[in-house]
Amino acid sequence: MTKKAWGGRFQGEPLDYVEAFNASIHFDKILIEKDIEGSIAHATMLEKKGILSEVEAEQIISGLKAVLEDFNAGRMELSVQHEDIHMNVERALINKIGEVGGKLHTGRSRNDQVATDMHLYIKEQVEHIIESINSLKKTILTLAEENIHVIMPGYTHLQRAQPVLFSHHIMAYFWMLQRDGERFSESLKRIDLSPLGAGAISGTTFDIDREMSADLLGFSDIYQNSMDAVSDRDYIIETLSNISLVMMHLSRLSEEIIFWMSEEANFIQLSDQFTTGSSMMPQKKNPDMAELIRGKSGRTTGALMGMLMLVKGLPLTYNKDLQEDKEGIFDAVTTVLGSLEIMNGMLETLSINEEVLEETVSEDFSNATELADYLVQKGVSFRKAHEVVGKLVLKCIHSGKYLKNLSLEEFRQHHRSIEDDIYDQLSTRTSVDRRNSRGGTGTEAVIEQMKRAEKLLK
Ligand code: ARG
Repeated sequence: MTKKAWGGRFQGEPLDYVEAFNASIHFDKILIEKDIEGSIAHATMLEKKGILSEVEAEQIISGLKAVLEDFNAGRMELSVQHEDIHMNVERALINKIGEVGGKLHTGRSRNDQVATDMHLYIKEQVEHIIESINSLKKTILTLAEENIHVIMPGYTHLQRAQPVLFSHHIMAYFWMLQRDGERFSESLKRIDLSPLGAGAISGTTFDIDREMSADLLGFSDIYQNSMDAVSDRDYIIETLSNISLVMMHLSRLSEEIIFWMSEEANFIQLSDQFTTGSSMMPQKKNPDMAELIRGKSGRTTGALMGMLMLVKGLPLTYNKDLQEDKEGIFDAVTTVLGSLEIMNGMLETLSINEEVLEETVSEDFSNATELADYLVQKGVSFRKAHEVVGKLVLKCIHSGKYLKNLSLEEFRQHHRSIEDDIYDQLSTRTSVDRRNSRGGTGTEAVIEQMKRAEKLLK
């Protein structure tokens, strides 16, 4: 027999590099709290069911607590020889309380144990992500409220389309994040399930009570099928998918921030606290944080793809491939929490170059739809109006003017029904404020939108 926990049927030890390749302790150690929480619940249940004596359970539970204290104080030695966090904890427990520590693993396997740890970990992290999304939503709403008077160009194809309120533009991200938060909340129902007591694959001969251990761990329900319990990784895939979506939204917002901050646009300034300089070019102030978020969204989507590929061809039930389910999700969780926090800070501290925006929106053709709508109000068909305005725009381009610079005569040469009131209709402010259809960019409509958003935050 060898020194391994599973060494009974072996005559030789694995080679060092095999042991290193097999081990997950260097990344699954972050599960230690969850692992010990799960073990305490398991031991408590075993005692209540008369499978462990009161004294044994008491020894095991206080031993586990002492192991966690050692770990937190940096006194616990983790070793690849014990492969993963589960066996490192078990070894430390046995070293502390002796042979009785070996009774903890009665009626369970590492297969249901690791799944339990992962469910507990992901449930907790998803709750953090939801909180973080809510903080960002609050910041966006505040930014929208404070800048309700600011007009900016709205784009399609990155060509000026129609002027919009800055608040309207930024609030679009509020609603994306609203959906992201809802997705995470809805996913909790599937994460909040206990696999504990499924054993290696088929349950156990001991008279355990899975509901009891699930209750002790705060799970809402248990897996109904032991084989499903130990091989299901859907909840990790779903979480990665939800993380990828929120990261994709943050990436789009980052891209806009980068463009807004470019010298070409110059719509906003990011604070010095959220930007960096160049080692060579003294004039540079770079939006690195936004670029990093945009870049990191590639990593989280990569983790989702990796996880789908990992599980795709696996037969039931546990296969060691599944040890590879961890690093991607651990990294994605850190990444999304970091990105949400950075985005929050960036938005809290940015300033808007109002004069630049004001000038920008008054010097373009984004009021062309206004003119077309004006003609429609005078009874012209929209298609005809479109053509008339198109010709006027072309005329302006050739003569270096904007629509507002045309004389009434010039307008009337193109259509007789254009009158003096056209100038007011062409002003950017009028153009924005007349769009008060529900969900539109008119000030009243945006205020109504923000009221609804505020209700959601309460
Ligand atoms: N470290 C393993 C993992 O993360 C724990 C489960 C091991 N189970 C087994 N049957 N070898 O997947």
